[in-house]
Amino acid sequence: MSPVSALSDSVHELFFDLALEEAEKGVGRTHPNPPVGAVIVQGGAVVGRGHHRKAGAPHAEVEALSEAGARARGADLYVTLEPHDHQGRTPPCTEAIIAAGVRRVFVGARDPNPLVCGRGIRHLEQEGIEVRTGLRADASARLVRAFQKLITTGRPLVVLKVATTLDGRIATRTGDSKWVTGETARQLVHRWRDEFDCVLVGGGTVRADDPELTTRLSQPVVPGREPRNPARVVASASLDLPARAKVFDVAKAPTIVLTGQGKGAAAQALSNRGVEATEVAGQSGRLDPGAMVAELGRRGFLSVLVEGGGRMHASFLAAGLVDEVRLFFAPKILGGDGVPAFGAMGLERMEQAFHLEEVTVERVGDDWLVKGSPRGAAEGRA
Ligand SMILES: NC(=O)c1ccc[n+]([C@@H]2O[C@H](COP(=O)([O-])OP(=O)(O)OC[C@H]3O[C@@H](n4cnc5c(N)ncnc54)[C@H](OP(=O)(O)O)[C@@H]3O)[C@@H](O)[C@H]2O)c1
Repeated sequence: MSPVSALSDSVHELFFDLALEEAEKGVGRTHPNPPVGAVIVQGGAVVGRGHHRKAGAPHAEVEALSEAGARARGADLYVTLEPHDHQGRTPPCTEAIIAAGVRRVFVGARDPNPLVCGRGIRHLEQEGIEVRTGLRADASARLVRAFQKLITTGRPLVVLKVATTLDGRIATRTGDSKWVTGETARQLVHRWRDEFDCVLVGGGTVRADDPELTTRLSQPVVPGREPRNPARVVASASLDLPARAKVFDVAKAPTIVLTGQGKGAAAQALSNRGVEATEVAGQSGRLDPGAMVAELGRRGFLSVLVEGGGRMHASFLAAGLVDEVRLFFAPKILGGDGVPAFGAMGLERMEQAFHLEEVTVERVGDDWLVKGSPRGAAEGRA
């Protein structure tokens, strides 16, 4: 690579980073669509920016083109995802790009939908527009990771969040769990809630903790992106849940209760209060985790943060449904009569243990955060 092209590549990356910044504004707000950002540059100056705000709203490229107006003619477009080439909820972005007279398009990720992947790029090239792919490939791919999973498997990205003591306990023997981790770790969880489409807990957690499961942040994670609450999902086969549970305050955020078959009267009582009760398959008081995740996928949720408790964690992990585990370890010990971070999984031999791969460890306040993916998750075991 000549020094000149190295220089221009780094300039392109700088502009592309602005498109990534734009895309971040949409994270957690666009389902069932992915977050996308776009920037238009004319004569070295940014003349248009845009991001996809929510399903049905204009796509990022169209927002950026409309800000740029006539200055888009002969300009460069930086966009984090391949422009779509088919009539969906909105007209094809490729047509808008061609009509605006854009000269070059820098694309981050290709469309993860195997049915249309590459079509947008081909169409632009057929019209004589120069297209370059692969800029900031990792960051672009990360932005569409959840969308890619949903579109290829019908299931949202599943992340398990656990706050545990060093001896693997998430509450005392009486069920007291406030708090395992410190303020810094808990604030980080609120940032995640701001970005996940829904959070899911088991009935045991609602009974023990009465959590609100809302996003409580003092300031936006991304400038210009107001915090918002995820949908709250409770898994309860029995529907034996406290009527006054905070999670049933639907003025704060929507709540969905996943339950077993034949819960007519109790389910109706929830519906009367604006809480949606949906039946999923299951047996012996346990809902089928695969059926729960598929139901969330049917609703177009790109991502779900499973936030407890121990039995829920175990069920999801044992079913091979978890893409990523985020385990906070607090420097505390509660003893063997505390509530285990993972309920019984019936394993008999060490070789059956769930292995985490791509493990990272970081200090978060006084706690440690261990992240990893269960072996096989990337290959689609999940
Ligand atoms: N530190 C943390 O990160 C954290 C987070 C959350 C909770 N907690 C603590 O965890 C404790 C609750 O944990 P837990 O294990 O007792 O309860 P849990 O995992 O929250 O809930 C278990 C309940 O979920 C429902 N369920 C439906 N299908 C299931 C399935 N396939 N597998 C498992 N459960 C299913 C059932 O509800 P029904 O009985 O209603 O049918 C079951 O009783 C509390 O003490 C709480 O404080 C800690």
